[in-house]
Amino acid sequence: MAEEEYRNLIKNLGFKTVSRLTPASCVVYQVKDMKRYRIIKFSAPNDKWTLRHILKENEALKRAQGIDGIVQRIEFYDQRKLCQLDSPYGDVVGLLKEYIPGKTLEQIKDSAIRLPKAFITGSENQKMLESAVKELHQRGIAYLDLTPRNIIISQSKKPYIIDPGTAILKEEVSKIRFLKEKQRDLKCLEWLLKYPRSSIPYPWYESD
Ligand SMILES: Nc1ncnc2c1ncn2[C@@H]1O[C@H](COP(=O)(O)OP(=O)(O)OP(=O)(O)O)[C@@H](O)[C@H]1O
Ligand SMILES: [Mg+2]
Repeated sequence: MAEEEYRNLIKNLGFKTVSRLTPASCVVYQVKDMKRYRIIKFSAPNDKWTLRHILKENEALKRAQGIDGIVQRIEFYDQRKLCQLDSPYGDVVGLLKEYIPGKTLEQIKDSAIRLPKAFITGSENQKMLESAVKELHQRGIAYLDLTPRNIIISQSKKPYIIDPGTAILKEEVSKIRFLKEKQRDLKCLEWLLKYPRSSIPYPWYESD
């Protein structure tokens, strides 16, 4: 779908486009309503992967509502709604989320900005990220895609998980598989916290 068509959809949803955000596998925009910045994430037309990603992210974020340390979902726009608003394609969906001002761990690493000390050492922030992950697990959400590009350190130096689009819900898999996915998350988290600048492959690349 052309840039122009996404911008038109954003306008019809009642927002102003601020900018398109990259890198991204889905189509991600920073937008603004009368008062605030928001994020809208769309799937690409005729693309099952991005469609599945956003449907999954929507489910996971619904369940994660109110947990501190993970981006909050605001609204989901289904295919019908977007078609009514002039989407020229039948299968595009969108997800509206809060905007978190800050930088991803990947951006911090690439730009050689020093990581906030508070993040590296055993701090409140680390504990917050850990407890967000544990609470997500308790609510039956695992495989949180804890990569450096999916964690934002906010301007107030607080870490947020921003993209659980690969999530696995407890009722979808066997008990053993869910346990494995939880263990993988904890391993990724440990790696992120211990070696945020390492070029060694992160454990989420490991196959089972
Ligand atoms: N809630 C948010 N607040 C601020 N910036 C965000 C937010 N969500 C996404 N971004 C920015 O947009 C980029 C892409 O977002 P996201 O990870 O959700 O898309 P994606 O299609 O899953 O991309 P990727 O394949 O890199 O994971 C992020 O790396 C981040 O820079
Ligand atoms: Mg992502």
